[in-house]
Amino acid sequence: MSKRLNLIYYLGAKSYLLNFILPKLKYDVNTYIEVFGGGGSILLNKKRHKIEIFNDINDEITDLFIVIRDYLDEFLQRLDLTIAGEKYLKYIKKQKPKDLIDKAIITYFKYKLSFNGTTGSFRLSYSNKENFYNIEFRAITNRLKDVYIINRDYKRVLEDITKGNRKNFMLYLDPPYIGKEDYYNKKTFTKEDHYYLAEYLNKNIDRHYFAISYNDCEEIRKLYKNWNIYSYEYIAYTYYNKKIPNGKRKKMIDVLITNYDIKQEGDNYVKDNQFNSSCNEFNNSNIECYTG
Ligand SMILES: C[S@@+](CC[C@H](N)C(=O)[O-])C[C@H]1O[C@@H](n2cnc3c(N)ncnc32)[C@H](O)[C@@H]1O
Repeated sequence: MSKRLNLIYYLGAKSYLLNFILPKLKYDVNTYIEVFGGGGSILLNKKRHKIEIFNDINDEITDLFIVIRDYLDEFLQRLDLTIAGEKYLKYIKKQKPKDLIDKAIITYFKYKLSFNGTTGSFRLSYSNKENFYNIEFRAITNRLKDVYIINRDYKRVLEDITKGNRKNFMLYLDPPYIGKEDYYNKKTFTKEDHYYLAEYLNKNIDRHYFAISYNDCEEIRKLYKNWNIYSYEYIAYTYYNKKIPNGKRKKMIDVLITNYDIKQEGDNYVKDNQFNSSCNEFNNSNIECYTG
């Protein structure tokens, strides 16, 4: 397995779930569209599709990726890692970027110097500082080379899809999770959006293959009851998954829902549409809905 690519820490990143998700995407189609791309853990690490579109409403992130794709040398020339500290982070967050590269530098520090990309916190350990230098920027530039990076509301992306005559493509969606809609920006995603998304996906099944990630909640299982639901249990060592009193972190359960069958031997996941326990039962058994 080749080394995983990772540019920044990002809330809800799928880094812990790559072995679960990546093999279940459809690769025998030309086009791949990622609607809620975030920190890019999926796109950067999946096999290539001929045409790839990466979207997120967070323009700090989409502009950062554009700069890494198109202006890496200039970005690296301006990136002074020796001054990366808490004071500098406070200072740089207040600066108005003078151009796109400047904006990318600020974004990079904001996410890179905080716990799990929460941007409000600060962390810089020695190993973390080392990581700055070791990041394989060139490999990331190369991976992004032919990727269309866009910055739109997801509804517009989906509307554009239905207007066009594109068919037979792979759509991967990783929306804010149920109960965590305001993790990113309170106004961009609400509870109603979960219903909008499910309705869209249930209506447009003939148009594309889709895979959508979620926390394992009863509401989600109901909304997607007609599709394949694969589940995966894991422990995330993240800022939000703090240790519980006995010193252990909580287990999480994530699901990947698809409108196509994808059978793989030897994977530690189960095909789950017979699932009949409720989210409450999970909570009682000390398994929490993942705070993606
Ligand atoms: C769970 S995160 C995606 C994480 C990503 N898969 C990763 O591995 O880093 C959800 C993303 O949805 C984006 N988002 C929220 N509301 C949106 C909207 N209305 N349209 C498009 N993207 C949106 C957020 O900016 C955030 O990056």
